[in-house]
Amino acid sequence: MPEISRRQMLTAGTAGIAGFAAAAQATPARSQTSPAPQVRASSNGRFADKVVLITGGTSGIGEVTARAFAAEGATVHFCGRREALGEQIAQSIRATGGRATYQRADVRLENDVKAFVDGCLERYGQIDIAFNNAGIFVPTSATVADTDVTAWNDVMTTNATGVFYSMKYELPPMVRQQSGVIINNASVSGHVAFSTISPYTASKHAIIGLTKVAAVEYSAQNIRVNSISPGAVDTPQLAQGLKIFGATPEQAAQGYPIKRIVAPQEIASVVMWLSESSACITGTDIDVTGGYLTQ
Ligand SMILES: NC(=O)c1ccc[n+]([C@@H]2O[C@H](COP(=O)([O-])OP(=O)(O)OC[C@H]3O[C@@H](n4cnc5c(N)ncnc54)[C@H](OP(=O)(O)O)[C@@H]3O)[C@@H](O)[C@H]2O)c1
Repeated sequence: MPEISRRQMLTAGTAGIAGFAAAAQATPARSQTSPAPQVRASSNGRFADKVVLITGGTSGIGEVTARAFAAEGATVHFCGRREALGEQIAQSIRATGGRATYQRADVRLENDVKAFVDGCLERYGQIDIAFNNAGIFVPTSATVADTDVTAWNDVMTTNATGVFYSMKYELPPMVRQQSGVIINNASVSGHVAFSTISPYTASKHAIIGLTKVAAVEYSAQNIRVNSISPGAVDTPQLAQGLKIFGATPEQAAQGYPIKRIVAPQEIASVVMWLSESSACITGTDIDVTGGYLTQ
């Protein structure tokens, strides 16, 4: 099995490599391993009457987005597999005056996803915004022929099938409501190819394809479906990748025109903007890499 080269890692770019390399840069400033900022929730905020569903809210981009929506008055229902952590995050959001509940769900399991969506509807009666964010990066470090089948299945099931299951159960209540916004978390790896991370790359391309199909199928019912593509974001996933590849954040950031690692709060801002944006924005992917896909 070929080793991923340092050069590949530094030029690759995203969640896999550049993403990883780049993401580590943000780590010294504030790793998601330290507590996310606590902002007092506003009951009159921008999302005061909205119910927001988030997959993968126990860490990184999902956790920060859950906190940001709650701070703007939204009611947030999120999942992840780590129960103690999920309960702790929900409790800390409630301690700021926010409304948040955690429900354990593994997005690889259809019944878990169904129960998670049903749990939100039973508690709050509606789902206005869904951020399908849960995902994993496995540093397969192998060409396609040498890629481990278990790694392929795990990444595809989590990242691609997980988003499919999520939309499968989020869309029917949105159709009943005749309104809804779905945002799927893809990646720069959903647009371009980086060697030796075929499962991650295929899974993120799948998310962008699924997003487009759902958008054209449901836009007449006032449901917008878009995706976002981050490059290197300061999260535990990125920090872990940098550690594995032995890259510094500075080296990683060089692959991005923005020349820095993006903070998860910046991604949360885009998710919130997209949630409020015009009805004519559907079926598209927003490049939040800091220029990687343009260069
Ligand atoms: N960080 C980056 O540079 C970067 C770049 C491009 C795209 N992304 C994408 O952004 C998303 C969030 O990543 P992150 O960087 O914030 O990573 P992270 O800090 O590792 O967070 C990943 C989240 O996904 C959840 N998750 C993973 N597998 C799951 C499963 N089977 N069921 C339910 N939840 C699951 C995790 O919760 P549990 O462990 O508790 O299950 C965690 O809450 C991912 O889709 C990732 O591919 C990240």
